[in-house]
Amino acid sequence: TQQAERQRVLDTLRLSREQLLEVKRRMEEEMSKGLARETHHGATVRMLPTFVRSTPDGTEHGDFLALDLGGTNFRVLLVRVRSGKRRSVEMHNKIYAIPQEIMHGTGEELFDHIVHCIADFLEYMGLKGASLPLGFTFSFPCQQNKLDQGVLLKWTKGFKASGCEGEDVVTLLNDAIHRREEFDLDVVAVVNDTVGTMMTCGYEDPHCEVGLIVGTGTNACYMEEMRNIELVDGDEGRMCVNMEWGAFGDQGELDDFCTAFDWAVDERSANPGKQRYEKMISGMYLGEVVRNVLLDFTAKGLLFRGRLSERLKTRGIFETRFLSQIESDRLALRQVRSILQHLGLTSSTCEDSILVKEVCSVVSRRAAQFCGAGLAAVVDRIRQNRQLAELQVTVGVDGTLYKLHPHFSSIMLDTVRDLAPQCKVSLLQSEDGSGKGAALITAVACRIRDAGQ
Ligand code: BG6
Ligand code: GLC
Repeated sequence: TQQAERQRVLDTLRLSREQLLEVKRRMEEEMSKGLARETHHGATVRMLPTFVRSTPDGTEHGDFLALDLGGTNFRVLLVRVRSGKRRSVEMHNKIYAIPQEIMHGTGEELFDHIVHCIADFLEYMGLKGASLPLGFTFSFPCQQNKLDQGVLLKWTKGFKASGCEGEDVVTLLNDAIHRREEFDLDVVAVVNDTVGTMMTCGYEDPHCEVGLIVGTGTNACYMEEMRNIELVDGDEGRMCVNMEWGAFGDQGELDDFCTAFDWAVDERSANPGKQRYEKMISGMYLGEVVRNVLLDFTAKGLLFRGRLSERLKTRGIFETRFLSQIESDRLALRQVRSILQHLGLTSSTCEDSILVKEVCSVVSRRAAQFCGAGLAAVVDRIRQNRQLAELQVTVGVDGTLYKLHPHFSSIMLDTVRDLAPQCKVSLLQSEDGSGKGAALITAVACRIRDAGQ
């Protein structure tokens, strides 16, 4: 029957507990590979050292600039940090658009645009001429040998400005500042968004030792023991590691869980074969997975009366916010139908709406479970590092999918608790983005630098 055929297809997108345990196990394996010197280069999960060695302790203070590039919005921020009794963080920020042609142009154009936005912001804040220390949240994989340097390994999430891969983004930024000849900036830290988020949340909660992003892309960072980070000298204390877990699966580690829909999404993406885990989890791709399932159902005559509209054939129509709306429990089917109509899928019936909602929920549940399995590997590793029978840990989380989706966080949390029962995990949603964390990191670096002088 038609119903059986639909369920057969949807079953390929459902994960058993055994499969999720296997995902966790493979993630653990990749983490160890990424940390070890001999296997680091072949590892899909790169486990990049960040040179951030502690979470905030409340003594950081001063005025800082922050840039936040790589998520939905590009922002420039002024962050005022106060320590002591009046411990507080005050932020002012402005969002700037990055036009498509700049994202796809040359690196020089991209960085000239960034510097143009900084200049506008300084003018707007009445700070022209001031030379403040700057923390650069740059949410892409970077190889770091120190805090104030980051070599872009590869673009992800659809960015593709030429001439940046293999270059130090601080140099690219400084070069653009010099080309403009208007002001000088002291770039003190390059920070991944996961790290910024962990620091932002760590300011409120000292147990926060993991940062997680589920937005345009997905990634995590956590505090690892220095003795296990073979790429960095020294065995004392801890350092935050940017996992770049989005690339998990790039050597086939997830192939046995992939469906035809995942292959289709990957094939038509800007980076085929890359960021395979990210493509099954994050906001930039989930809607495409859903659209591919709907295409298949329609082609088989199981949906939209078998009529393949031009709209449905258009890439990118299912944005994260539509997924989140469709799955909202408060939404009547009539409203689901009106969203579908808004998407140009006009010929839908009530049954169609039910089916579309089911597809969305199967795809996003799988995403949340995959993500939870990865997170279970992370928290269990922290626990084992410290030889604890039980670990209490907070995960700082940010990203539009996580924030907008009605069920993502609870499914993810259920999964982590199930797969890592010895860890007491709490999730803390970041309200201030990762710019605040970047400023805190910059503050600590400035304090240490000034003390050394
Ligand atoms: C924000 C951070 O809060 O979260 C960004 O400040 C980050 O830098 C983002 O990339 C992730 O979310 P999204 O959904 O915008 O990709
Ligand atoms: C992509 C980037 C990574 C970032 C994540 C979330 O996976 O490579 O650096 O943290 O997206 O924005």
